[in-house]
Amino acid sequence: MSQQEILAALERRAEEGGGEERRRRQHAAGKLTARERMELFFDAGTFEETDKLVTHRCRDFGMDEQLIPGDGVVCGHGQVDGRPVYAFAQDFTVFGGSLSETNAAKIVKIMDLAMKMGAPVVGLNDSGGARIQEGVVSLGGYADIFLRNVLSSGVIPQISAIMGPCAGGAVYSPAITDFIIMVQKTSYMFVTGPDVVKTVTHEQVTMEELGGAMTHNVKSGVAHFAVADDRECLALIRELLGYLPSNNLDEPPRRPTADPRDRHDEALDRVIPAQANQPYDMLDVIHMVVDGHEFLEVHQHYARNIIVGFARLDGRPVGIVANQPAHLAGTLDIDASVKGARFVRFCDAFNIPLVTFEDVPGFLPGTQQEYGGIIRHGAKLLFAFAEATVPKVTVITRKAYGGAYCVMSSKHIRTDLNFAWPTAEIAVMGPEGAVNILYKRELDGAKDPAALRASKVAEFREKFANPLVAAGRGYVDEVIQPRETRAKLITALESLSIKRDKNPPKKHGNIPL
Ligand code: HXC
Repeated sequence: MSQQEILAALERRAEEGGGEERRRRQHAAGKLTARERMELFFDAGTFEETDKLVTHRCRDFGMDEQLIPGDGVVCGHGQVDGRPVYAFAQDFTVFGGSLSETNAAKIVKIMDLAMKMGAPVVGLNDSGGARIQEGVVSLGGYADIFLRNVLSSGVIPQISAIMGPCAGGAVYSPAITDFIIMVQKTSYMFVTGPDVVKTVTHEQVTMEELGGAMTHNVKSGVAHFAVADDRECLALIRELLGYLPSNNLDEPPRRPTADPRDRHDEALDRVIPAQANQPYDMLDVIHMVVDGHEFLEVHQHYARNIIVGFARLDGRPVGIVANQPAHLAGTLDIDASVKGARFVRFCDAFNIPLVTFEDVPGFLPGTQQEYGGIIRHGAKLLFAFAEATVPKVTVITRKAYGGAYCVMSSKHIRTDLNFAWPTAEIAVMGPEGAVNILYKRELDGAKDPAALRASKVAEFREKFANPLVAAGRGYVDEVIQPRETRAKLITALESLSIKRDKNPPKKHGNIPL
């Protein structure tokens, strides 16, 4: 055979992966193969593969007889909407996509290249974990990847898709990356599987219950997105990348929009219910304000009392953080605080301005919250907003009570522009709570406590349940009409686009983890 023919045969062998039967099984399980995923993910015809001919070096357990070029992972780079992106896709048809020494070296190579180029890394995970035949060499490979995940954090965006098994220590690479997307029914993540759980704790649990897509989207918060299948997964990663800069020195990509910058939405004027304790859906507010009503919600199924996600305003990507009065009355609890803090820090690391919509009655009371450490976790959100130096704009739509007022991107923690709707209520607590504390003795001794309470509540509401005291102090820069919110935010962000701010020099802060 000529050199050309040998090369062609090896390339064909690499492309076949684990062979026809294993590819068939992959498809039968509802999954695409690693190569099909790469082709679908990148802009057509732009994927360039590296290390296609790499093989493992294991000579034990008959492995020297089983050399498959590529060794279970497809690596390379290509374009997404014309921008460079690096990616790896574990090939479950080759040794179950397990991670060998050489397989890890391939992933490390593209991670290093991505860092040098300042381009995002996307990992498509589908693997049985450490290559059992290789032992510690494989574990070393994982640690090499973990180190790069950590050093790349905050420099280039890192996105992990879980498109099959991801178990044991292998979960920690995705866990360090910025976003995790899980495919429903075909993916799972856990540190120890159902068999080990049964042996150790005697709990009976299925793979899906223990680590399926909805478990991690709803309960643990490990995953940020759930998708129906591989195609949806790959499309979502592309959409997500569209909001992100390629690296921490770049600006997020601005896109032309047909949505007028001064579009007034009269429906916003009617969003806030007449009764202060009635909920409304903050998602409606967000949709009415942003370009084309398009909002990519992150962590949609987790801690629904806070909303986080990406949108554009006059084409500029923004990160939105919003209390959700329709869930737990929009209170801040442990999960919401952690969810919000992580998102704020991501946006700050990648120059994405933050827009906060605030309607928060306070932190969620209770022993569960206190024992769980709401003090420490709530502090994360405060820390994250305070240290963020990106442009920050807040709109108080209704309640801004107590400590939560300070936390939710208040003026005092370096927010650049703070707006309030006329319906804003900025106070230490709600009128009823305040009257119960301040007039406890009078109420106990009153002939008509109900009448006294009503008059005191009315007095309190008159004084504090409005934005005027805060505006009088300059804690609120402007009281705006709800319908003008879009125009006001766009003008604000435009003026802030040249913002320069930094934190004092330090190795790193000590966020209360
Ligand atoms: C080598 C592996 C492998 C592994 C699977 N295969 N996992 N080969 N090392 N870790 C091979 C199988 O031998 C099989 O080869 C093929 O991949 C497909 O596997 P099946 O078992 O047939 O597939 P399925 O029934 O779908 O089950 C998938 C699975 C199971 C649940 C992932 O394979 C499994 O339990 N694998 C072991 C998982 C594990 O314990 N890994 C170590 C975790 S600890 P053939 O030739 O038959 O197709 C870990 C530590 C990381 O990863 C540490 C980081 C710090």
